[in-house]
Amino acid sequence: MSRIVYVNGDYVPEEEAKISVFDRGFLMADAVYEVTSVLGGKLIDFPGHVARLARSLGELEMAAPVTDAELLAVHRELVARNGIVDGLVYLQVTRGNPGDRDFAFPDPATTPSGIVLFTQSKPGLADAPAAKTGWKVISIPDVRWGRRDIKTTQLLYPSMGKMMAKKAGVDDAWFTEDGFVTEGTSNNAYIVKGRRIITRALSNDILHGITRAAVLRFAKEAQMEVEERSFTLAEAQAADEAFVTSASAFVMPVVEIDGVALGSGKPGPVAVRLREIYLEESRKAAV
Ligand code: PDD
Repeated sequence: MSRIVYVNGDYVPEEEAKISVFDRGFLMADAVYEVTSVLGGKLIDFPGHVARLARSLGELEMAAPVTDAELLAVHRELVARNGIVDGLVYLQVTRGNPGDRDFAFPDPATTPSGIVLFTQSKPGLADAPAAKTGWKVISIPDVRWGRRDIKTTQLLYPSMGKMMAKKAGVDDAWFTEDGFVTEGTSNNAYIVKGRRIITRALSNDILHGITRAAVLRFAKEAQMEVEERSFTLAEAQAADEAFVTSASAFVMPVVEIDGVALGSGKPGPVAVRLREIYLEESRKAAV
């Protein structure tokens, strides 16, 4: 079914959407993006996503093509026009089309940023069967660049990681660097020891997950202990439970790492409870 997408100010059927071959997002992955989930026709954690978009743009000296208020309006319009109940909205801002290929950034005065948004319908997104069984993951070396805090479209290595996971017959891969877990291919990683939730502290090494911020806040409000520090793969394999968070997986239990089952080998109580709390609270705050 054809969707209506948003390209540089226009709502058009996806078949008619056009981007220049000289667009720097296409040629250089000179672009940043956000993924916001939609539940019950409403946007989850929207303020966090626009705030992170502004930060990503700022770090790359890229101009914001529209205001935050316009972004909200475009998100809502696309959700309505495409009849999205559960799913997601993808947003990408690129450094635009300077008319030629050149490594140097173009002058923003003459080359405005480009913007594209589209929806993906995912009926029953919050009821993913995988949440009942949990994910199995493998570990792979983190060979990404050093500014993983910026949400750029340089997603080749995460895609390769997903393929390595697929070939290994598991659900995802966790990146490791200097013996420590950084994050998942497209999610933040956590382990649980007793009642304590452990996750890597924020730095340039990982994406500052919007779901992560919300989940840690809810965990603290529920009197759970949270420790933000790096953990090794061995520590993860010896943990009681593990999970990942992202805008599309919400809180997803992890039950196996590199063939080693965690705890009972089933989703752990902390992950299950956090998923419930996150879905309940974020639905309430959805816009
Ligand atoms: N990925 N770490 C990485 C490397 C990610 O790509 C993502 C999100 C996250 C979690 O961030 P958030 O909670 O804000 O979604 C962490 C999105 C979902 C994607 O690329 O589809």
